[in-house]
Amino acid sequence: MAFLELKNITKRFDRQVALSDVSAEIEKGELVCILGPSGCGKTTLLRIVAGLESASSGRVYIAGGDATHLPAAKRNYGIVFQSYALFPNMTVYGNILFGLQQSKSLSKFERKRKALEAMKLVDLTAHKSKYPRQLSGGQQRTALARAIALSPSFLLLDEPLSALDAKVRGKLRGEIRSIQRELGITTIMVTHDQEEALTMADRIIVMNNAVVEQIGAPREIYDKPASSFVASFIGTMNFYKNGGETCAIRPEKIEITGRMDPGGITAKIRATEFKGPLTRVYCVLPDVTEICVDVPSEKADRLQLRENATAFLNMPPESLIKHEAMAG
Ligand SMILES: Nc1ncnc2c1ncn2[C@@H]1O[C@H](COP(=O)(O)OP(=O)(O)O)[C@@H](O)[C@H]1O
Ligand SMILES: [Mg+2]
Repeated sequence: MAFLELKNITKRFDRQVALSDVSAEIEKGELVCILGPSGCGKTTLLRIVAGLESASSGRVYIAGGDATHLPAAKRNYGIVFQSYALFPNMTVYGNILFGLQQSKSLSKFERKRKALEAMKLVDLTAHKSKYPRQLSGGQQRTALARAIALSPSFLLLDEPLSALDAKVRGKLRGEIRSIQRELGITTIMVTHDQEEALTMADRIIVMNNAVVEQIGAPREIYDKPASSFVASFIGTMNFYKNGGETCAIRPEKIEITGRMDPGGITAKIRATEFKGPLTRVYCVLPDVTEICVDVPSEKADRLQLRENATAFLNMPPESLIKHEAMAG
């Protein structure tokens, strides 16, 4: 049995439908990302799991029990809100300790011990007397420490990294992932960043417009998108006509060769973009559809792929994603 189970959740705010018949199961110890564009219902779904919002219909099960009407305080989770909700005038340690003071059953000594332990886990021990905002990723780390300090049975994170610059964000992705693994704690993380979801999640729930588009492992979602929304939202996808049918293919799956092969396509290069190890080559097909191809930069040099040159393309049949396979 799944540790968390959402069954046919619908949520309306007045006439606005924020969630429409959403079902998902999350296994014990899994890190699942809810991924989708802004406004698609991610936070609302997380808040329903947290008991901070009630569903208009549908049920929530936690550890096998029906938790649909269970108060938030009895659900035993840690949460990091998008805004972190930290006290700016309290130190790292003060903020973490404050979170523990809600738990009346712990002695003062136990609270201190748990605060120190959580601080160590997020690597802030050396900075306990600083203010969270003074440290790179300090607010995120402090909020995370506060969320895990009480050893909750699951963790809910709402876009915890979206306010950070790319470098710190990349570092914290890895840290959160390893803390989650170390604790083996079931985690739901909301993000609108597909790269974040692909790198961190065991499985991804892809949402759009209040509905679930697909649930699957990152690789599965990338290689076998279930709808054209998923195909274009995750990574880059080319769509083009092959005979009468529309096909989709990833830029890195197209081969560019130095000569025309049987079954190949001749295209004209409109532009190239150097991206370090790869060069993205924008090609115009005979029917004027534009697609892009990612080529190792060395190969792009060797084949002299540049603006206005001719490119010979092969689309390996095994890499084509047929449009009818995508339900949407
Ligand atoms: N408290 C609320 N009252 C009215 N509408 C809301 C409320 N919370 C969310 N919504 C609406 O529900 C939809 C989903 O919102 P949200 O779950 O916050 O999306 P996301 O987190 O994916 O950006 C949006 O259209 C939003 O405007
Ligand atoms: Mg949100």
